[in-house]
Amino acid sequence: MSNETPYTQVRVSQAHDSACQQVAGAALYIDDIPEPRGTLQVYVAQSPHAHARILQCELDDVAHQPGVAAVVTLEDIPGVVDVSCIHAGDEPVFAQGTVQFLGQPIYAVAAETLDAARLATQHARIEYEPLPAVLTVEQAMAQQSFVLPPRKIKRGDPDTALQGAKHRLQGSLRTGGQDHFYLESHISLAVPEDDGGMLIYCSTQNPSEVQSLCARVLDLPDAAVKVQVRRMGGAFGGKETQPAQLAIIAALVACKTGRPAKVRLDRDDDMRMTGKRHAFVIDYDIGFDDQGLIEGVRFVQKVRCGYTADLSGAVADRGVLHCDNSYYLANVAVESYRCRTNTVSDTAFRGFGIPQGVMGIERAMLDIAQHLGLDPLEVRRRNLYGPGRDQTHYGQTLSNMILPEIIDQLVEESRYDERRQAVQAFNQTHRYLKKGIALTPVMMGISFTRLHLNQGGAFINIYKDGSIALNHGGTEMGQGLFIKVAQIVAHELGVGVEKVRITATTTEKVPNTSATASSAGSDLNGMAARDAALKLKGRLSEVACRHFGAEAEAIVFQDGHVQAGEQRISFEKLVGLAYLERTSLSATGFFKTPDIHFDNDTFHGHPFLYFAYGAAVSEVLVDTLTGEYRVERVDILHDVGRSLNPAIDIGQIEGGFIQGMGWLTSEELHWDDKGRLRTHAPSTYKIPSVGNRPDVMNVKLMENPAFRSATPYHSKAVGEPPLMLAVSVYQALLEAASEVVPRPAMDAPITPERVLLAKPMAGAKQACAKGLGREEAATLL
Ligand code: MTE
Ligand code: MOS
Repeated sequence: MSNETPYTQVRVSQAHDSACQQVAGAALYIDDIPEPRGTLQVYVAQSPHAHARILQCELDDVAHQPGVAAVVTLEDIPGVVDVSCIHAGDEPVFAQGTVQFLGQPIYAVAAETLDAARLATQHARIEYEPLPAVLTVEQAMAQQSFVLPPRKIKRGDPDTALQGAKHRLQGSLRTGGQDHFYLESHISLAVPEDDGGMLIYCSTQNPSEVQSLCARVLDLPDAAVKVQVRRMGGAFGGKETQPAQLAIIAALVACKTGRPAKVRLDRDDDMRMTGKRHAFVIDYDIGFDDQGLIEGVRFVQKVRCGYTADLSGAVADRGVLHCDNSYYLANVAVESYRCRTNTVSDTAFRGFGIPQGVMGIERAMLDIAQHLGLDPLEVRRRNLYGPGRDQTHYGQTLSNMILPEIIDQLVEESRYDERRQAVQAFNQTHRYLKKGIALTPVMMGISFTRLHLNQGGAFINIYKDGSIALNHGGTEMGQGLFIKVAQIVAHELGVGVEKVRITATTTEKVPNTSATASSAGSDLNGMAARDAALKLKGRLSEVACRHFGAEAEAIVFQDGHVQAGEQRISFEKLVGLAYLERTSLSATGFFKTPDIHFDNDTFHGHPFLYFAYGAAVSEVLVDTLTGEYRVERVDILHDVGRSLNPAIDIGQIEGGFIQGMGWLTSEELHWDDKGRLRTHAPSTYKIPSVGNRPDVMNVKLMENPAFRSATPYHSKAVGEPPLMLAVSVYQALLEAASEVVPRPAMDAPITPERVLLAKPMAGAKQACAKGLGREEAATLL
């Protein structure tokens, strides 16, 4: 059947499916669901040490405290003790023999109230023998403490290229971790069923994984565990693997007591107990010619993974895959070390290792430009992938690489050249206030690097009154996935999107789903839902053919009606007829991403269906005497193919950019020398607020009509790529700081303190300081 329906439901802005409920405070999150009678509240007791042997654990008194219904320990586990997403065996539900980080769950108390449960833990008698803890990447490297073996890859002959290059620079930078700071912290409500099964409401991006891990721990078949989530109050990768352990603790309590049980972490516990973005230390060695063209480069990426492997292998691999950002590296070597530390397990976070990988090469771009006295944008442009230079270091050949067009258009629309001159003039006439302006590109490969995850499923019911209920394997975390998939179904069935009823994600309707992650949610689930919708449309079309006495080609589904030439009936009427004719009005849909392959051993192949592109120009104003700064203006041009929903996509770009800016400027995680996280609440951990929003923020979608791919109507993923646009803020700050400190060594986040304390990187050319040195400035005060 030809699909020539005009695009009235997709490629148009539609409000988020829960916008009204969310604004009115009526949207139900798991803590808002009325608790079943007898629900117990669960408090999870945590390790007070970063690394220690448990010599003795006496919990009898805890169990006898008022209000306490049960204490749950390792001994209550009927099945497998491990909750590692990759079944690595390194993530016990509760600490086993030793504690591996400060905050690790030791046991859980279930009581009538959360306060009673928490108070009861004071009566535990646990004796520890503290052990030396590995807390930093440096300590881990020195002790060769790794969660996984290192990855070493190479293309061309980087050593010869480096030795032969006319110019050569070395440098190093660190990027900090990041807490997800979703508004809804981790929560699970487990309800035991009368047949021995378990129903779990869980704030998770990955219901199928919670289901299967829970089944393993409870020694049940997967089919006996149901996991449901209608929406999350934000996730950002933090609910990809992290919810399982807490959901399982709730389920263990439910199993032991026969009562429903809820685990709900408060902010401090959530920040101490659950995983974060991986911190990286990146060393680079780069050789280039007089034009700034890179001839050879070597990266060493040292990745803090925390105490378990978790997703660290995949995250660190993404850092290696995207060490090029968008630049052709003919001769490149990368060594990636996956460091095991006695800190909370680092995990997925929007960008998944890519932002960190990108930071190394972008810092090198600035170094090259400053070394040669060129505009960094010029150096970036010269090094971009292009004709004859279009194969990545892992073997994928690029197509529809539109960064040159994006950069040209952005330079023009943001008046980059003019503003760069104005910034230079400003810096010449101001002693203490300094400005910086930087344009950085984004290029992110879309698909899971683990092949089997690239599948999606959907399930659509049409009821005999013509109403449509949509279900698919994706989860809604605020990113607008549900409305996008509903739009796709509405488009195919020729009805308004309001006719498509969106239902909660549940393992009962669509099985074996992948996490909603890697930004592939709308690609995978959208295509699966389209498949289901097309099956139903085909069946309805046959009914219409008989009804109208028309050929299938003549049938059109549009505007809530089905027509053939002059004849037309409402969609509801046709469904009624189909029912009377005994037509199946329920269909599953499925999609698997075509054309991708990757050899994990040789690190070679075609891992991505396509790339998402974008670029941003950021301008900052820095007070070099206090270190304070403002982001004055940001211009973004971002490629989402043919947008499914421009309003949602622009929201994702704004949100991703601001979250990236938080990572690079203000969000600082600080563990002390005992392994205590000292920044575990908004009082000490600073996410961007309204006041930190750039004064001017222009966001535009790039027109990209030439893009063709196996995605819904040639749209592109949007969830994560925009986070990397924020690298432009970091670069602009570096440029401003370079006005007073030559080649400043500044780790991320660049907090005002870091601006103030900036020192030159080893090997900096002292002569390139154009402004007033800070010591000199201090003598004037
Ligand atoms: N947007 C909101 N509002 N909340 C979130 O938690 N998560 C991000 C991104 N955008 C997130 C978000 C992350 S990490 C990913 S991978 C994608 O959304 C996942 O959804 P998608 O695949 O449907 O884009
Ligand atoms: Mo997103 S980090 O892939 O959940």
